Amino acid sequence: GDAPAPGSALVPLSGTPVSDLTRLPPAVAQALDTMRSEFERFDLEYRSALNQVESRLEVLQDEFTHLHDYNPIEHIATRVKSAQSILRKATARGLTFDLDALRTEITDIAGARVVVSFSADVYRVFELFTAQPDIELLQVKDYIAEPKANGYRSLHCIVHVPVHFSTGVKLVVVEVQFRTSAMDFWASLEHKINYKFDGDIPPHIVTELTAAADVANELDARMEHLHRQVRM
Ligand code: GTP
Ligand code: MG
Repeated sequence: GDAPAPGSALVPLSGTPVSDLTRLPPAVAQALDTMRSEFERFDLEYRSALNQVESRLEVLQDEFTHLHDYNPIEHIATRVKSAQSILRKATARGLTFDLDALRTEITDIAGARVVVSFSADVYRVFELFTAQPDIELLQVKDYIAEPKANGYRSLHCIVHVPVHFSTGVKLVVVEVQFRTSAMDFWASLEHKINYKFDGDIPPHIVTELTAAADVANELDARMEHLHRQVRM
């Protein structure tokens, strides 16, 4: 067939296929090379901030389980945006590749996603986390109170997390998304479908996705109702 022979694709150890590297805008490719060590430091800061977020959420989770005999968090996922994605986003927004500018302008370099069990847990866990005195809440976007037109639901916030380095405390920007399993299920699959169409989804698919989001929302409402009954 037409399949390439095994091992014929040039894949460097970083995992980025060479074909992708050659398609990078020249300015991005150059910055990736000349700013390598700055980006390593950058990555360390954001990873450390995410460790803070994750560990604080785990403490709250353990305490909540201890107090209420029930664990509201299904799972927590974190990721640091790759240097390549940061530079692509910066290019798309017309930003200069200045690290301090990138730090303030790109607020989703560090991302955490907290998937909770029941609808009420979204706000419960959000409140517990953001009530911590050294967590500074910079922005909240409540896509549960006001879902996106396509039906997307989640509670997003952007926070400053203090990280103690040898040089002192650094306030690192982290985006945290809180959602139920049903919201997460819908968002993951919508993302995959969206990806297939490269952002250009046919209207009837959008309509069906929105209808599916309503089903997910209905499921959350039912489970929340059941949960309240069994806890009485
Ligand atoms: P970005 O530039 O994409 O980060 O958007 P934004 O700055 O307007 O932020 P927003 O809070 O709207 O969305 C940030 C993140 O939420 C995205 O990167 C996704 O992870 C998630 N998200 C937002 N809208 C959707 C959506 O319609 N579908 C899915 N699957 N995820 C979404
Ligand atoms: Mg984003």
